[in-house]
Amino acid sequence: MQRGGGCLSGLQRTGSQIASLYPCSNASRQVLNLSGFWDFRFDPGDAGLDAGWGAGFAPQRPIAVPASWNEQFEEALDYLGPAWYQTRFILPWGWSGKRVRLRFGSVNYLAAVWLNGAHLGEHEGGHLPFEFDAAPYLRAGENLLVVRVEGELAPDRVPPGRIPPDPRDDFPHRNHPDTSFDFFPFCGIHRPVVLYATPRDAITDLTVRTELEGTTGLVRVRLDRTPGDGATARLSLKGHGAEVAEEVSLSGETAEIELTLPDVAPWSPEAPNLYELAAELSRGGEVFDRYSLPVGVRTVTVEGDALLINGEPVKLRGFGRHEDFPVAGRGLVPPAVVKDYALMRWVGANSFRTSHYPYSEEAMDLADRLGFLVIDETPAVGLFFAEEGLGRRLQLCRQYVRELVARDKNRPAVILWSLANEPHSKRPGAKEFFRELYGLTKSLDPTRPVTLASMHEEADEAFEFCDLICLNRYFGWYTEPGMLEEGFARLSEDLDAAHARYHKPVIVTEFGADALPGCHSHPPEMFTEEYQAEMISGYVRVLEEKPYVAGQHVWNLCDFKTAQEARRVGGMNLKGVFTRDRRPKLAAHRLRQFWNARHDEDTRKERA
Ligand code: GCU
Repeated sequence: MQRGGGCLSGLQRTGSQIASLYPCSNASRQVLNLSGFWDFRFDPGDAGLDAGWGAGFAPQRPIAVPASWNEQFEEALDYLGPAWYQTRFILPWGWSGKRVRLRFGSVNYLAAVWLNGAHLGEHEGGHLPFEFDAAPYLRAGENLLVVRVEGELAPDRVPPGRIPPDPRDDFPHRNHPDTSFDFFPFCGIHRPVVLYATPRDAITDLTVRTELEGTTGLVRVRLDRTPGDGATARLSLKGHGAEVAEEVSLSGETAEIELTLPDVAPWSPEAPNLYELAAELSRGGEVFDRYSLPVGVRTVTVEGDALLINGEPVKLRGFGRHEDFPVAGRGLVPPAVVKDYALMRWVGANSFRTSHYPYSEEAMDLADRLGFLVIDETPAVGLFFAEEGLGRRLQLCRQYVRELVARDKNRPAVILWSLANEPHSKRPGAKEFFRELYGLTKSLDPTRPVTLASMHEEADEAFEFCDLICLNRYFGWYTEPGMLEEGFARLSEDLDAAHARYHKPVIVTEFGADALPGCHSHPPEMFTEEYQAEMISGYVRVLEEKPYVAGQHVWNLCDFKTAQEARRVGGMNLKGVFTRDRRPKLAAHRLRQFWNARHDEDTRKERA
């Protein structure tokens, strides 16, 4: 299938807005979820814009939303757009006159949106929510929503693709599709699309920061609201036998309130205690809007060579992952989300990184509830620093940082922001790039450490702007192939050198090996389950000996789909310790022996 190449420059860019609070239903708010089967058609000739498909089009076939399109139709695997979606819905009674927002959980990569033929605007970048003011374009009865999606790879996008080969490379790395990252560039509406209604005068955001003073929890809340007449803001915290509340009069659009919880039940991986924070706006004693969310009282700090949760050193044990499942591609699959947490618990993991893009809000909700420690990563993977397009790539990274912090800032599970994965940051220009992103992140959220995951062994210009060092290492695989002991020795030297250079805690955010399920050898040889198990075991032994190593994340929890190339059998990255359909390899059992002693003990206690 040929790819489109259309542009939207002729359209009036009304633009999407940052989405923060996850839509909820309660006495003052309602949500209409548009998930289901939508009309769909490909547009290989990019004819739809000029043909006015935004006002409706003749559908070719039904498609499931949310999900990628690539594995739903056999002729679409490598087709990266443009494609068109449309669905019809009936406006609920009582919504006219309300503030109504149209919210997308994630569309990869570029979305353009029409409502009843009116162009609402576009959003660039997958994996983060965005929304539009829909009220002016809605009508009583039936409404038509149309979305144009394309996931074209381009050097000035983030993540980039189709980077012109460097003439200095003897064998330019070629894969299909031509990505500069190692996962499949799935396209489509990947998470739920909802309309939600609030009063015209409503709470628009809540920012929660928590402290611990001895056995007392301090919860500082900033409440933002739509411009409106004076009102009273009441905030209450309930849970674990406590209920505290504070009220302030609100003349402007912002209120700052502090709540105190004596004998607080802190949030931690061992005890992910949550309280319900309820915010209410009232006037003349009558409540007109309410929003509630879970709050975990905890602190995250870096001191010397240690990462601390609530002042106690913690060691991360877990995985780099992907949102990837057969047929659904990168689409939200709730049973797979539940399954992956159960598998991580079974192995004895307490942590994961959202490699290489933010995961769904639904999955992050479970991390908060189950007590997993999350390194929350932006979609900036494969960044390179050639002058051409650099400004645009920085603009996109700034947007992603703003969108990610706005979405996940209140989550106790999120303990670290990762600005990027494996940027080519030995090159000039990287230093200023990450100085700016680090500064922006700290200005938006001074409470969490900031890092990025690097493949470099020295002179990574970005490490100056990391509160701790995250390293991706494959000695014994991409280098020292077939030579496990040499790989382990090199790992040990490399980590000591990195720590001696930067004097910061180190997390090894990737290590592992491909293993063809069912492929065995003795002695272990590359691509067998034995080699993968031995590689991971050897790394774990080295890492356990290093006091400055604050975490170990195996790459990867599960096998996942990637672009086709000579090193990827069947277009798959097989470094999972579980297969793509979640069956354990030898390495999963081996990790369990290392990590899950505590898990088994906890389970025995739970079942006693
Ligand atoms: C890199 C990269 C991953 C990739 C892995 C691999 O470190 O961060 O996205 O999948 O190596 O080569 O398997």
